Amino acid sequence: MANRLQDKVAIVTGGGRGIGRGEALALAAEGAKVVVNDFGGSAGGTAGAEGPADEVVAEIKKMGGDAVANYDNVADFASGDRMVQQALSAFGRLDIVINNAGILRDKTFAKLAPQDLEIVLDVHLKGAFFVSQPAFRVMKDNGYGRFVFTASAAGIFGNFGQTNYGAAKMGLVGLSNVLAQEGAKYNIKANTIAPLAASRLTADIMPPPILEKMTPELVSPMVVYLCWEECQESGSVFTAGGGYFGRAAMVEGKGTYIDSDGPATLEQIRDNLAKIRDMSGAEEFANANAEGMARVFSHLQRGAPAQ
Ligand code: NAI
Repeated sequence: MANRLQDKVAIVTGGGRGIGRGEALALAAEGAKVVVNDFGGSAGGTAGAEGPADEVVAEIKKMGGDAVANYDNVADFASGDRMVQQALSAFGRLDIVINNAGILRDKTFAKLAPQDLEIVLDVHLKGAFFVSQPAFRVMKDNGYGRFVFTASAAGIFGNFGQTNYGAAKMGLVGLSNVLAQEGAKYNIKANTIAPLAASRLTADIMPPPILEKMTPELVSPMVVYLCWEECQESGSVFTAGGGYFGRAAMVEGKGTYIDSDGPATLEQIRDNLAKIRDMSGAEEFANANAEGMARVFSHLQRGAPAQ
């Protein structure tokens, strides 16, 4: 047992299996006390059982740590309040929330049923809102907090058959980006990970020799780092899997201005497309206002001629 998260209290949603289990164990191994949430459902989000959360709590206790189980469905609005209250009553504080609970309802867009959209948005996106909002209020009062949201390359880069999942996952990037800004003055950091690991969700999309080298434990160090007091990262997206760690980011090229008396014509768009698409000199922006200032507003204020 190490102690870099000594005295810190964490909630891990979906902490009973796969990546969340790895995260809960890794947080506990650094001394954090953990509320292990898992409603124990199927990969598609049906049924429920107490076993997975209980088993991880037992594992943490066996290694000398402290943890309590929570069996709530994160898609239930009141679940977040219950988890936060449980953290406060069991351990007296709350410092860390890992939003990890997730399910799959893959369908091609033409075949996507309303219920496959709703449940995926409810669990991934709304579930993260429901758990994070009451947690944020507590952290704001304490002047300290660490959030990690779990996105996916399926949203960042797109993946066939996952419109519902990709939309929910990119929604989490937006939530994390805004929370990073709202939390800044309270020392609350929010980041997103896009993991890749062997679990029941990926069992049939990667060959066994690869899956063997992609254990969920290999994702945890990035997540635990983002929960460390020393970590000053906020508003970033990190990829982690199989020992690889990287950062993904939204950037914008320099673009171009088309000065004409009214809206640009389609021909002007076509003729300027190479400049519009050009990513040389692309930049990241700290927030939407900075982007607007750098690109559109400064041009309008200057009344600059077309480049
Ligand atoms: P998993 O199925 O092994 O674990 C997910 C856990 O979340 C399960 O124990 C499940 O019972 C729990 N859960 C599901 N819905 C819940 C709900 N409504 N309330 C509470 N708990 C709930 O899956 P895995 O692979 O560990 O996925 C974890 C997260 O990582 C998910 O958000 C997933 O979308 C994401 N992810 C995983 C990737 C991978 O390579 N395994 C790739 C990209 C993203």
